[in-house]
Amino acid sequence: MAKAKNSTIFFCKECGYESSKWMGQCPACKEWNSFVEEPVASEKKPQAAKGVRLSGRGAAPVRISEIALEDQDRTPTGFLELDRVLGDGIVKGSLVLVGGDPGIGKSTLLLQVCRNLAVAGRRVLYISGEESLKQIKLRANRIGEITGELFFLCETNLDTIFEAIGQAKPDIVVIDSIQTMYREDISSAPGSVSQVRESTNLLLQTAKGLGIAIFIVGHVTKEGVVAGPRVLEHMVDTVLYFEGDRQDSYRILRAVKNRFGSTNEIGVFEMMESGLSEVANPSEMLLSGRPKESSGAVVACSLEGTRPILLEVQALVTATNFGMARRTANGVDYNRINILLAILEKRCGYAMSRYDAYVNIAGGMKMNEPALDLALVMALVSSYKNREVDSGMLIFGEVGLSGEVRGVSQAAQRVAEAVKMGFSACVLPKANLAKLKADKRIRLIGVDNVREAIGLI
Ligand code: TYD
Ligand code: MG
Repeated sequence: MAKAKNSTIFFCKECGYESSKWMGQCPACKEWNSFVEEPVASEKKPQAAKGVRLSGRGAAPVRISEIALEDQDRTPTGFLELDRVLGDGIVKGSLVLVGGDPGIGKSTLLLQVCRNLAVAGRRVLYISGEESLKQIKLRANRIGEITGELFFLCETNLDTIFEAIGQAKPDIVVIDSIQTMYREDISSAPGSVSQVRESTNLLLQTAKGLGIAIFIVGHVTKEGVVAGPRVLEHMVDTVLYFEGDRQDSYRILRAVKNRFGSTNEIGVFEMMESGLSEVANPSEMLLSGRPKESSGAVVACSLEGTRPILLEVQALVTATNFGMARRTANGVDYNRINILLAILEKRCGYAMSRYDAYVNIAGGMKMNEPALDLALVMALVSSYKNREVDSGMLIFGEVGLSGEVRGVSQAAQRVAEAVKMGFSACVLPKANLAKLKADKRIRLIGVDNVREAIGLI
């Protein structure tokens, strides 16, 4: 063991890949320059909270029919948007990672969840390693009065934290953030890959052992030696990412992994003066302030989980001044735009290679559903021809390389959303049209290929 004591190991701080030597690019996640050197974790036996059995001694296998499911397994968070992303509330004994850029609103969201839970009669413990009690109080004042059994602790030593958990006996614990927590028996600094990983491991055992739900905050970091949340993704039950433009007040909560629900769901929030508020109707939010009668702007429909969301796709096509056409894509895949432009060039005869094209999704949303293809094509052609598309028209459909328009899933739901939002026409794949019932409130226009769709402009 004398050898292991002084030896170090290299970790990828993005994904936690281990290697005995330094590498320029991580073979696992392909990130460049992400390796950091850390001492090997000690062999000392880890200590979880009291009452947690770390070894599996005495454990006997059971039949699946013998496992009892309690009725009250899921706790609502007080936010319907969050409940849906979690898969219908918080599961007892689960470990949930909430990742996101610094300042996006992770602490605010979790403090509001703690408040809702405390008001609903749960015992909640919020542990902050980043902010003082005074700072938390200031934030709490902004989001409103807090009543009930909500306890705060400023601590970064995990042993002390487990002691506190043992004493306070909470139903739900928040750890803000995992990168500030440390275990004394590991010699590397807080935030290093081994600290973050070992700390999470103990928290996992605590959650499972005591049957409490634990939320972990993880910052997404690009610089420095702080390990990112991806290092722990495989350990936790649920991974949620909180994203959005800092200039914009909208925030999207997305499930990347969920052992208790679907990963397609998103939750939409808006950052206000008094904390985050839910956006129950994102389509309305995304379409507000839309310019009527403007070329290059069309409304598309993207399906996020079970929910169709209408959004505005904007394109600007101008003659290029240099030999090489410039292209940018905000909120959609850059390569997808290049493919769609190539389809327009080859299948429809537009000389797109002589035009710059800039594409944007209004509201700072990021969407990559193929059903957006047709709307992107229509926006590009509308700007190219400088002719507007009817602003009461919704467009969706996937575009294939021969310029054919392919059917998409859940067309009826998308059309229903269009009706709800007061649209009078909908351009959709013919394959979908055949299965839809006619509706007096909306004119359904089925198209087979891109040329037919462009004819409508
Ligand atoms: P915070 O929750 O501290 O972010 P994170 O924990 O992800 O780093 O959010 C900080 C930002 O949110 C900060 O820029 C201020 C803003 N904010 C509001 O706009 N309204 C509020 O009520 C609160 C509490 C914060
Ligand atoms: Mg924070």
